[in-house]
Amino acid sequence: MGVDPLHLRHVLSRYPTGVTIVGTRHRPLGVCGLTVNAFTSVSLEPPMVLVCVDRSSNTHGCIEAAGLFSVNVLSAGQAALAVRFAQKRDDKFDGVPYREGEGGVPLIEGASAWVEARVEAAFDGGDHTIFLAHVLRAEQSDEPPLVFHRGSYARLDGDAPPGTDAVTDPDAVTDPAARER
Ligand SMILES: Cc1cc2nc3c(=O)[nH]c(=O)nc-3n(C[C@H](O)[C@H](O)[C@H](O)COP(=O)(O)O)c2cc1C
Repeated sequence: MGVDPLHLRHVLSRYPTGVTIVGTRHRPLGVCGLTVNAFTSVSLEPPMVLVCVDRSSNTHGCIEAAGLFSVNVLSAGQAALAVRFAQKRDDKFDGVPYREGEGGVPLIEGASAWVEARVEAAFDGGDHTIFLAHVLRAEQSDEPPLVFHRGSYARLDGDAPPGTDAVTDPDAVTDPAARER
């Protein structure tokens, strides 16, 4: 018995992710890009990331042709860009401020982080292609990230879950009993 695709989508939507715009520059077509949450860090040495891109997307062919892409990790104030780049339209980059990275890939202003990468391998991933890529450059800003969860956009405001302070701050032990130990 197979898994119903709609059911699977609902189940997987419980897994919160960041939201990125994966962009590239196709010559002669110009810049193209799409909203992607299937972005993963793979390796630090060598530096590798992967993105999963639908074969039927317009951007898929652009990435294949260019062999380069950028990953723009969207910030909390950029949900409108996530919506825009999830649509099929030719004018996605019109009015969107960006600078150019390696090979002209778009680095969108106001993002939380940027990665520029060169495709090393492309794997068949069902109706998607898994592009495994070598990181050429990585930068970050102070902007908090945009989050996607259960089909909605959210932000990471709020306190850390109880009992987790010590993960980031070894001195911040919240359990009074633990403080005495
Ligand atoms: C939050 C969100 C995450 C998405 N993640 C992916 C993804 O990881 N891979 C993908 O191929 N499409 C993903 N999409 C869908 C594409 O953005 C959408 O199909 C887009 O229209 C493709 O544009 P294009 O055909 O112009 O390239 C996502 C959409 C949304 C709203």
